[in-house]
Amino acid sequence: MNTLGYFNIEVFGCQMNEHDAEVLRGMLSQMGYEETSSEEEADVLLLNTCAVREKAEHKVLAKIGMLKELKEKKPNMVIGICGCMVQQQWMADKIKRDFHHIDLVFGTHNLHYFPHLFRQVVEEGKRVFDVWESESGIVEELPKQRTSGIKAWVVITYGCNNFCSYCIVPYVRGRERSRKIEDIEKEVLDLASKGFKEVTLLGQNVDSYGKDMGLKGGFTQLLKRLDEIDGIERIRFMTSHPRDFDEELIEFISKSKRVCEHIHLPIQAGSNNILKKMNRGYTKEEYMELIERIREYIPHVSVTTDIMVGFPGESEEDFNDTLDVVKKVRFDNAYTFVYSKRKGTPAAEMEDQVDEKVKKERIQKLISEQQQISLEINKEMMGKTFEILVEGTSKNDSSVFTGRTRTNKIVHFRPNNTDNKDLEDNNEALDSEKLVGNLVNVKITEAKSYTIFGSLQDGLLGGN
Ligand code: SAH
Ligand code: SF4
Ligand code: F3S
Repeated sequence: MNTLGYFNIEVFGCQMNEHDAEVLRGMLSQMGYEETSSEEEADVLLLNTCAVREKAEHKVLAKIGMLKELKEKKPNMVIGICGCMVQQQWMADKIKRDFHHIDLVFGTHNLHYFPHLFRQVVEEGKRVFDVWESESGIVEELPKQRTSGIKAWVVITYGCNNFCSYCIVPYVRGRERSRKIEDIEKEVLDLASKGFKEVTLLGQNVDSYGKDMGLKGGFTQLLKRLDEIDGIERIRFMTSHPRDFDEELIEFISKSKRVCEHIHLPIQAGSNNILKKMNRGYTKEEYMELIERIREYIPHVSVTTDIMVGFPGESEEDFNDTLDVVKKVRFDNAYTFVYSKRKGTPAAEMEDQVDEKVKKERIQKLISEQQQISLEINKEMMGKTFEILVEGTSKNDSSVFTGRTRTNKIVHFRPNNTDNKDLEDNNEALDSEKLVGNLVNVKITEAKSYTIFGSLQDGLLGGN
């Protein structure tokens, strides 16, 4: 089929946005467009935006400004902005007013309407700005064009009901809606039949899955069903909320075949005073007990987290509580953020916003503490052998393979660096096509805070 033209999508923000981009790619392909990695070549250019911090929005606005020149050179190109940032009506209005080279704006709630809106732009030659105020139901059976053939994201819940006081997500993604277990199961079965090896279940708060449908322990029920699907080697999920992470769930993960021993459990802050103002629904002590229980049931589990510094009113003492939890819990890794004021959230209205300089000092202290811990934990892996799902070769060096442990650590290895003589002699077994998408054993030889290297141990463990 001749292509109607080329499209290019740039994604900002989280996995949910990456997944939405897969749907946009699917819809554009169905309409007869082909993907290009070049913006200049594109006939349709989409920016799928994020609003979680001010920096994310600044990046997008700067990018929109830069696109003016390209649009002048290629007036028939359609430039569209979608995603969380423009789900804020005031922002959609601002773009309409200030950036006349933008042809199309739509929000998160009408993503499935994209083909219709796009046709209006192309066929009627008008600017289309359409942001729905509230969420629609779940639209199943949208096309998806996934970039990897090995790992797939599978959405289980949309939206969020938690309203953490700093967070924009509930406002731009709507109330929590769970997909039906049967629909999720069908999608994972389909992925398994296509040769996918790993699925990551996505939601803002996966462990509250099913509550909106009246299910109790819905997430555990869902995991139990998916754990039975042959072909899928690994099941991951994110993000979990400490408040909903119950013992039944922990017990099931410890017994399951395919659910990986990695839990991403954002703590956000270590001070009870700040946690309360954040509306997180747990105390520092409750969080630490939960981690203890998780480690009791799942001894080799890796635990990662999100932490924020500089929430309004955060004193030196509050910040020290955060450092204290970090030292006591010893996370495998932490994503650290400086609090950013989000228009329309309760925290933005709070007094005693923390000085930018203080925020910077705190984040640096936090990062260096965590880096040291990650390094120590990673060094403990040295000399041990781990099961790696090989995902591909390194961007900079195609002779270096990259994959992850079940605990979600990225490991690099060179096949010719193997300890196993037979394997080294058997060049055929080492070619890229045979390794990528398969499970192998890799012995760790070098570990830093962020990068881990190893050597291939023996033949393939499973997979294709
Ligand atoms: N639903 C997930 C992800 C939310 S966004 C969760 O609950 O963890 C990812 C992270 O961004 C959050 O965990 C939080 O640490 C951070 N974040 C959210 N709002 C923020 C804000 N206003 N300023 C700085 N960081 C923020
Ligand atoms: Fe935001 Fe809290 Fe919901 Fe996560 S749980 S998306 S931080 S409101
Ligand atoms: Fe994700 Fe950013 Fe939206 S973190 S849900 S893309 S605001």
